[in-house]
Amino acid sequence: MEISVKPNESVRAMLVDSGYSNTAIDYYLNQPDMGSLADADHVSELTGQCGDTMKIFLKMNNDIIENAKIQVLGCPGAISAAMVCMEMIKGQSIEYARTITDRDIFRKLIEIPDQKQHCIRLAVKTMNKALDEITQAQPAAV
Ligand code: FES
Repeated sequence: MEISVKPNESVRAMLVDSGYSNTAIDYYLNQPDMGSLADADHVSELTGQCGDTMKIFLKMNNDIIENAKIQVLGCPGAISAAMVCMEMIKGQSIEYARTITDRDIFRKLIEIPDQKQHCIRLAVKTMNKALDEITQAQPAAV
């Protein structure tokens, strides 16, 4: 008898073997904040040295990030890191979002392969690029 394995189960098994935690894999498979926002106030895009690209969509209410989504053309490390990053910034101030480090995201992912640490960097850099652009676009307080 042929035993079939569901696609997600075989992907999970591969990722576990590669060094991803189940938490990181859940973010990768469920992709809760993957996508775009039709009512975004700000859209920013960044391509990493590896060639992977992230495009972030932010809905702002003054300096509060009301909603955040991101499109990721990239690896499981990039996708899981980007999902954690969006989860961490939603409902938060720009000031708070700026304090988020690679290490914070890694802690939430629990484990991803060492050679995938730069994927976390790309998510944080994409977020900071967007925040820089928003801040620079705001008129200075009088
Ligand atoms: Fe490019 Fe992961 S390999 S972000």
